[in-house]
Amino acid sequence: MIGRRRFLEVLAALGVSQTLPTCATDRKVSFDSYPFTLGVASGYPSLGSVVLWTRLTGGLDPLAVRVRWELATDESMKSIISSGETIAEPAWAHSVHVEVPGLEPDRWYWYRFTAGDAHSPIGRTRTAPAAAAPTQRLRFAFASCQQYEQGFFGAYRHIVADQPDLVAFLGDYIYESSWGNDLVRSHDAPEPYSLADYRARHALYRSDPDLQAAHAACPWIVTWDDHEVDKRLRRRPARGRHGARSVPRAARRRVPRVLRAHAAAAAHAARRAEHAHLRSSRLGTARELLPAR
Ligand SMILES: [Fe+2]
Repeated sequence: MIGRRRFLEVLAALGVSQTLPTCATDRKVSFDSYPFTLGVASGYPSLGSVVLWTRLTGGLDPLAVRVRWELATDESMKSIISSGETIAEPAWAHSVHVEVPGLEPDRWYWYRFTAGDAHSPIGRTRTAPAAAAPTQRLRFAFASCQQYEQGFFGAYRHIVADQPDLVAFLGDYIYESSWGNDLVRSHDAPEPYSLADYRARHALYRSDPDLQAAHAACPWIVTWDDHEVDKRLRRRPARGRHGARSVPRAARRRVPRVLRAHAAAAAHAARRAEHAHLRSSRLGTARELLPAR
């Protein structure tokens, strides 16, 4: 029998990735630093379920980590009605997505994660009303185009204060590029190209405390625009600051049609929302308001 180190050496010699996880599920994990620095989030509520998210940080690679999740009907997490465990895999940058089934429609819940001896912040989320139920009130905010360098995210403080049921994010959650004057902070990194680069950029944005608070306040539904990947992704290739194409032409051709369609839909929704007279509009039923699962 060969040991793990030798096994990985053999894989490396064969050109196979060495990202096989070392599963830590059979022992207590102790972290050098707090692993929930990116906060928590929830999203895509349906009448009976919601998705919970977090991502562990702190130099865990290549360790897989067991993560416990709990969902309660009270904000102090005393009345836990659902719980379970999942694995934060290095291949997914130690992010976890838990879809909690069996919930009641149209009510608030609270949730948190535990990894080793560390607890995440407590997040609040809610389920959607029954699909055919008339919606008497739905308070939601929409946001988009949050360029980290060009402003702080203080607007989310006002969104949280308004206690929305939902945040709809309409694209450009991260920006791959830097431009403009009077920047208030920096990406501190060049334009991302690799998966690791994009994960680092995403983590930088998710480190913002106002953004984290908005995610912890209610569920989000999200779509993307072009800057999550590359400026003007669905149009002709743009030239970067240094005159080079920011994504090779061949790579652009491989962008799935569905992604381009989503980007176009997000831009269209943002334009409509900017000009809609929401106060005089009929809200509709949950089936009409929420995305199909
Ligand atoms: Fe934008």
